[in-house]
Amino acid sequence: MTPYPQFSHLMHSSEIKINMTPPPLALCFFLSFLLCAAAGGGKWDLLLSNAGISAMHMQLLHTDRVVMFDRTAFGNSNISLPNAKCLHDPDDPASRLDCTAHSVEYDVASNSVRPLTVLSNIWCSSGAVLPDGTLAQTGGNGKGDHAVRLYKACTDNYSSSCDWQEIINGLTQTRWYATSQILPDGRQIIIGGRSQFNYEFYPKHSPTDGSYNLPFLQQTFDHADTDNNLYPFVFLNTDGNLFIFANNRAILFDYKNSKLIRTYPALPGGDPRNYPSTGSAVLLPLKSNAAAAEVLLCGGAIKGACDRARKGDFVRALDTCGRIRINDPNPQWVMETMPLARVMGDMLLLPNGNVLIINGAGTGTAAWELGRSPVLSPVLYYPDNQPGSRFEVQNPTATPRMYHSAAVLLRDGRVLVGGSNPHEFYNFTNVLFPTDLTLQSFSPPYLDPRFDNLQPKILSPVSGSKIGYGQQIPVRFSVDPGQLVQSTIMVTMIAPAFATHSFSMNQRLLVLERGDVMPVGGSAYQIMATTPGSGNLAPAGYYLMFVVHKDIPSEGIWIHIN
Ligand SMILES: *[C@@H]1O[C@H](CO)[C@@H](O)[C@H](O)[C@H]1NC(C)=O
Ligand SMILES: *[C@@H]1O[C@H](CO)[C@@H](O)[C@H](O)[C@H]1NC(C)=O
Ligand SMILES: *[C@@H]1O[C@H](CO)[C@@H](O)[C@H](O)[C@H]1NC(C)=O
Repeated sequence: MTPYPQFSHLMHSSEIKINMTPPPLALCFFLSFLLCAAAGGGKWDLLLSNAGISAMHMQLLHTDRVVMFDRTAFGNSNISLPNAKCLHDPDDPASRLDCTAHSVEYDVASNSVRPLTVLSNIWCSSGAVLPDGTLAQTGGNGKGDHAVRLYKACTDNYSSSCDWQEIINGLTQTRWYATSQILPDGRQIIIGGRSQFNYEFYPKHSPTDGSYNLPFLQQTFDHADTDNNLYPFVFLNTDGNLFIFANNRAILFDYKNSKLIRTYPALPGGDPRNYPSTGSAVLLPLKSNAAAAEVLLCGGAIKGACDRARKGDFVRALDTCGRIRINDPNPQWVMETMPLARVMGDMLLLPNGNVLIINGAGTGTAAWELGRSPVLSPVLYYPDNQPGSRFEVQNPTATPRMYHSAAVLLRDGRVLVGGSNPHEFYNFTNVLFPTDLTLQSFSPPYLDPRFDNLQPKILSPVSGSKIGYGQQIPVRFSVDPGQLVQSTIMVTMIAPAFATHSFSMNQRLLVLERGDVMPVGGSAYQIMATTPGSGNLAPAGYYLMFVVHKDIPSEGIWIHIN
């Protein structure tokens, strides 16, 4: 496969790097054909004007439904709890009598939501999808801060089994602003949280399986500036250890033996990147040489920014990204500059291996009322382009997505965007950045109809197929034979992420090794693809599989690796 599909060269030639709304036709006539034909830019659509709640946390499941939730202590949402249930919490003024839902399930196919039942506070929590497709959400606030909540993916809408189950004492410690990562053994590790310099697992091996110290979280805790190390960026490395970034530095950690393996060099500049100086990060696509794994981290806010925002001084967000090869013998951060400064951005891996940076603000920090200058334009990052031509500004939305917004990839390649509630309650009037209950989609440029003739379609395996590790599997697809450039075909697999607070937990993309493209009649082709070699590369569970041609992904199918 080629690391630089021809199409991305075309798209990123320097004239069109800053990609605004396509110029009007008359102007196109005078400019080069290339400018008008190739300017991507993406497209925004309003999906729902009222999803009932504000989408603070989101997870796509293999039923093509997205589970969302916000915070029970917000007071009344705009959708009733199912089965006429109500929440009565005498200790919380906002929840003394609340018969509204704070979790919903969005069904992509019908573009509709139905309410789900959560009665303990699920706010600022974490989660991961277990190998069987059940979402295991962990932690929260108040009476929900030790809770584990299970949502088994289901489609029998209003049956009581198609809803959350709350295990109120599922955790050993309070987990508020913690990060979860699914592990090769099918458990989830939950790391940190406010005032928690430790980690634990769900499910637990035994009743004595408690919490374990992680001094790195104490070392990166910034008392003067409201933590700056919450929601640490955690990635399962290809060697089975965890890469953990908090504040402005990173370690490689052996969670099985509670052992520090290595300390990475501090991020140049020293500025914090975690809550409330919230940046974002991704593990870049893992290719056949998985040991070459790289982490990319972008945006955030300077040290002291949160304290200054509280006093009304909203400082410019960081415009830098750091990129590091985490398994190099002598790893170094390489810094890059984004076209737009951003705090509270979300970073998403797209099916073709590029990275979308979306949502957030240009000044201030995360936390209630502390962000300003919404950044309305997403930016695409092309990891395989030459330094200096990796960023491309996309078309803007009109809707600010500030604190408590989120974004997830859908199976059809669109990105679902929702949330934004930088207030303590639902406030729709008389405030800056009103509470937002809308859902939008951002369609990256690859979904532009002018690329329809390049788009492959997966014929087999069928959605829902089971695969094992290290297997050769046939993948059949169709594509216009007149357009086919065999060298640009890729097969990718993406783990759908748990998105909140600008971090997509468990997000990973694998580019599968593949054989030659063989014609099998008409416009159908077959390639043999090698599935990931182990759970260190791809923990068991549901993944989206795509065939990509000239950077244009097919619609995804669900596959289950175990
Ligand atoms: C709340 O729901 C009602 C009824 O669907 C709708 O008219 C109203 O606009 C919604 N409010 C918001 C803020 O979306
Ligand atoms: C569940 O709700 C969705 C969305 O409204 C609908 O398309 C689907 O048919 C429903 N399923 C059942 C089993 O009622
Ligand atoms: C926000 O909503 C809360 C709860 O409804 C209300 O008490 C408060 O006054 C609102 N704030 C503003 C600025 O309207």
